[in-house]
Amino acid sequence: MEGVLFDLDGVITDTAKFHFSAWRVLAREKIGVELPADFEADLKGVSRLESLQRIIHFAGKTGVYSEAQIQAFATEKNTNYLKLINSLTKADILPGIKALLDELQQHGVKLAVASASNNAPIILDKLGLTAYFDTLVDPQQIKNGKPAPDIFLAAAQQLGIAPEHCVGLEDSIAGMTAINAAHAVSVLIGDPAEFPEADWVVPTTESLSYDLLQTVYDAR
Ligand code: BG6
Ligand code: MG
Repeated sequence: MEGVLFDLDGVITDTAKFHFSAWRVLAREKIGVELPADFEADLKGVSRLESLQRIIHFAGKTGVYSEAQIQAFATEKNTNYLKLINSLTKADILPGIKALLDELQQHGVKLAVASASNNAPIILDKLGLTAYFDTLVDPQQIKNGKPAPDIFLAAAQQLGIAPEHCVGLEDSIAGMTAINAAHAVSVLIGDPAEFPEADWVVPTTESLSYDLLQTVYDAR
């Protein structure tokens, strides 16, 4: 194991819930639809505009809005989301993540962020974690979003490591598919029933450690 490729939202910090609550408000106020709780899993790991398209489709309103309206909706969601994450601090790093980063660094494992979020640099800064990462992928430079492998391939390439020698950490179905398609080792956080194709699943970030990742990597 030479590199670890981190998703951000829902892996490093619990911002997945803020994305969904911002989408719920936008959907209710602008699209006139109430998003059910189980819709959250369909949006995890998915880019801002693709998330909006899925919500519009769910509302049965595909083709109803102009390009300008869609852009305005996406901007409004992001404005609301930024308000929700404004108060993030080091205390919002998920349990076990700081210790994991320290251990990986001590073992000379290279670290990348492979997040679809354009807000990743701001969030890492608020959490005080920026310096841990050797590289961050700019999602604007990625042609195909998760579940395509592109962002994990770019992360490995930016580290100068073959993806086969990397472990990817994710909390989403789209992310699991992307890691597997990149031929990296997939470790998922959440319910095993949700991630049948993962190489390994842990219930929470607390279970993550260098030894666990190395063991899963060796077992593949
Ligand atoms: C992913 C989240 O990390 O980033 C998605 O899981 C989100 O929910 C996507 O839509 C894009 O984020 P942002 O911050 O650029 O809107
Ligand atoms: Mg995520």
